[in-house]
Amino acid sequence: MQPLRYDRFSVLLHWLMAVLIVGQIALGLWMTGLPKDGSGLRAAWFNVHKSWGMVLGLLIAVRLAWALLRPRVAPPPAARPLQALAAGTHRLLYALMLVMPWSGFFGSVFSGYPIRFFGMPLPKLAERWDSAKELLGSVHQWSAAALMLLIALHVLAFLYHQFIVKDALLQRMRWSGTDRTTP
Ligand code: HEM
Ligand code: HEM
Repeated sequence: MQPLRYDRFSVLLHWLMAVLIVGQIALGLWMTGLPKDGSGLRAAWFNVHKSWGMVLGLLIAVRLAWALLRPRVAPPPAARPLQALAAGTHRLLYALMLVMPWSGFFGSVFSGYPIRFFGMPLPKLAERWDSAKELLGSVHQWSAAALMLLIALHVLAFLYHQFIVKDALLQRMRWSGTDRTTP
């Protein structure tokens, strides 16, 4: 039988990554507005962003592997099109959570600047390559916009469940919840 709620490891990863991703997006948008004044402030925040971005890259690999290995959680009762919309949104969220760190990482590799992981310099993987850097930069930027839209849709869906349908969907994504949402 399919489980009716997410297991604790999935719940832990969902909330940890939700906080880190929202923070990472805010940091990305803020740091790109910092002046290039040679003070090192911009570079320092870029390094913070790159380091946490790489952590997120590792976390999403673990999360995806776990999502594929664990038994599939039964969808909550809803009209077919809504179920399809939810499944599609979740898949796209996963896809974007993969595209973001990879495009960020290789965009940075081809920028020619050394990448540091919390201060530790990583080996240089390639020479500077401007057109690849620009292409990956656009992918990073557009994927970030798509990710923000989908997160907004995801949170709206949560509010719809919480306050309109009132089916306690959140219980499925809680550390210790009940199974009030049955298929
Ligand atoms: C206030 C913020 C958030 C709330 C209230 C929330 C709530 C939820 C809930 C209740 C579910 C379970 C849906 C179900 O039972 O079918 C869920 C699933 C999911 N959430 Fe969130 N979420 C939030 C933020 C995020 C963020 C920032 C991301 C990632 C960018 C995210 C990605 C996902 C994914 C991928 C799933 C599907 C999990 C799976 O089926 O494998 N969530 N969320
Ligand atoms: C889930 C992971 C990540 C998220 C959500 C994220 C999000 C963002 C956002 C919203 C921006 C600002 C918009 C833009 O100019 O593109 C940005 C910029 C940037 N990100 Fe990320 N990022 C992630 C991972 C990474 C990683 C792993 C690296 C590199 C190792 C990286 C390097 C950069 C760089 C260099 C910029 C500035 C681009 C420019 O100067 O135009 N990011 N990121």
